[in-house]
Amino acid sequence: MHATLQLTPEEEAVLRGEAGPGPRKAMEMVTALGRIYGAERLTPVESVQVSGVSYKNLGEAGLAFLQEWADQGARVQAPTLLNPAGMDMERWRELGITEGFAQRQEAVIRAFERFGIQPTMTCTPYLVASWPRPGSHLAWAESSAVSFANSVIGARTNREGGPSALAAAIVGRTAAYGLHLARNRQATLEVHLRAPLRDEADFGALGILVGRRAGQGVPAFVDLPEQLPTVGRLERLKTLGAAMAAAGAVALFHVVGVTPEARDEPALARAPERLVVESLAEAYALLNAPAEAVDLVSIGCPHASLEEIAQVAAGVAGRRLATRLWVTTARATRAEAERRGWVPTIEAAGGHVVADTCTVVAPIEALGVRTLATNAAKTAFYAPSHSRVAVRFGNLARCLEAAIHGRWPGGEV
Ligand code: F3S
Repeated sequence: MHATLQLTPEEEAVLRGEAGPGPRKAMEMVTALGRIYGAERLTPVESVQVSGVSYKNLGEAGLAFLQEWADQGARVQAPTLLNPAGMDMERWRELGITEGFAQRQEAVIRAFERFGIQPTMTCTPYLVASWPRPGSHLAWAESSAVSFANSVIGARTNREGGPSALAAAIVGRTAAYGLHLARNRQATLEVHLRAPLRDEADFGALGILVGRRAGQGVPAFVDLPEQLPTVGRLERLKTLGAAMAAAGAVALFHVVGVTPEARDEPALARAPERLVVESLAEAYALLNAPAEAVDLVSIGCPHASLEEIAQVAAGVAGRRLATRLWVTTARATRAEAERRGWVPTIEAAGGHVVADTCTVVAPIEALGVRTLATNAAKTAFYAPSHSRVAVRFGNLARCLEAAIHGRWPGGEV
């Protein structure tokens, strides 16, 4: 038998329209989801992250939907952040974005700002805004951020859609089902590693293999800690989570001895099914097309941390790039990297440190890009379908070599 959704008197009042048509529409959405998924109540959310920000994906219909909702007086009741947009909001001209696209993208951001949303435009809000409290309830939409929040931070969020996240922000609540409930956070698949993980690309490749197998389940990595470096640990975990969310629909994973819930409750990481990963070759084969000339090298998916920008700067210092290089990151991270001298070093080589966007949501096909090289498994997984480009996938050293010579380097992966 389905549980019945119980609302508080205040929630009932919003549903009757007493707070106006905008909040009523939001409450209708949140309660409809709650009923579909058998929630018994709503739960207040500490923060919200809204996706569906790029005009490339939203189009005119999406923009009109946002404007109409804002016109109805809907305003956010919880701190709310935005996922990447379709362009760098300041440097779009340098990157070749057209005036027409820029004007529509700016209209989208203005519409979101009318709700009271902070225009953060990043998929790594945990690197630039506040780090949520472990155990707190969130309504985040970007799949890699959802994975990081649940797994590495130990907060609780389902993977919201763009409109459902916005609805949760407007009522300050989400329906308590799925990963908001402790009973759904148990591992479903134990992952045992026999393959060495040499670099960030290997972590992404592993994520692709595990994501495909785990689907919507909860993988638990039993022997990963031995392969996790102390420096770059968060970066490896964000890459791994992003790839699993892309190739499957993994929104939570455990790493025995590392992630908070697996540390506090080791039984959560035990699962009836096992996956033994002997080799990553299948993932590299899946993510690589046989292209040689590279038009754009993309680093920073999920958005680059300061450490990752520093590595790019060290790799291109004093060189002259033969092809375009975008390091995509949050605006606040870019500003700090500029202060530390890494942005000027990358720019002196001919590269760009791009804020607010990424190569999956920017209209790169309109910029003449046919082949893209990346060290991010998530970008490599999505770019062929989202942007109709061929992809080369390998570690940062190989990607920077491609940027310097304009060709994907030969030799073994
Ligand atoms: Fe972020 Fe774009 Fe990757 S939104 S996770 S950089 S595809």
